[in-house]
Amino acid sequence: MQNKTDPVIEVRGLSKRVKDATGDLTILDHIDLSIEPGSSVAIVGASGSGKSTLLGLLAGLDSASAGSVRLLGRELSELDEDGRAALRSGSVGFVFQSFQLMPHLTALENVTLPLELQGGISTRDAATRARSLLDQVGLGKRTAHYPKLLSGGEQQRVALARAFVTHPAILFADEPTGSLDAATGHAVIDLMFEMNRANGATLVLVTHDIELARRCDRTVTIEAGRLVV
Ligand SMILES: Nc1ncnc2c1ncn2[C@@H]1O[C@H](COP(=O)(O)OP(=O)(O)OP(=O)(O)O)[C@@H](O)[C@H]1O
Ligand SMILES: [Mg+2]
Repeated sequence: MQNKTDPVIEVRGLSKRVKDATGDLTILDHIDLSIEPGSSVAIVGASGSGKSTLLGLLAGLDSASAGSVRLLGRELSELDEDGRAALRSGSVGFVFQSFQLMPHLTALENVTLPLELQGGISTRDAATRARSLLDQVGLGKRTAHYPKLLSGGEQQRVALARAFVTHPAILFADEPTGSLDAATGHAVIDLMFEMNRANGATLVLVTHDIELARRCDRTVTIEAGRLVV
């Protein structure tokens, strides 16, 4: 059972290795990390150091070569694909570095989708909630746009609205302000910390943005697949 004070994420000896043309490549090497509920953590490091790979493993989107990840008290390797999807759908929001919006859905439909997948909410209420999130990220006038008609920064904000809409216990975001101008980036940072404060959401953010890293409770640095302390 997960107690309120238990870490929401507990990582032990986590490694990720892949085979490529030149042989075995170690992307992550024996990572140990505990993240407390309601805290905010910035993951920083050079390009190619393994940040996105780590985030994907923490969220159960990818499988480890060795070691363990406990997410909200559940050992991810003990769950099958469906079990991990169910855990994510109820508790996790994810903002990808590449946004990954559904191209054939409008901005509003993209944000409504996680609520529909979760169920227990009427179509009308889901749309109202999605609209309000799009308003908060400054896209109230772009709800009917398809992703390809949105700028990079606008797509990023739709991805953020989609991640927030279910009020997840943990928000994972990969460079959430990477494509935003200073003012919009500021607003998005405020929105994430508002989620953190109002809903007790844990924030795990990969970022090069110094303002964002400073506002987090803690910064962890990755260098060539290892955590530096
Ligand atoms: N499936 C894979 N096969 C081979 N190499 C991979 C694979 N996935 C990631 N890598 C390599 O692992 C390293 C870490 O990748 P990752 O995407 O985690 O870096 P990152 O820290 O997020 O970088 P950035 O700041 O540029 O986004 C890179 O050198 C990448 O080329
Ligand atoms: Mg990355």
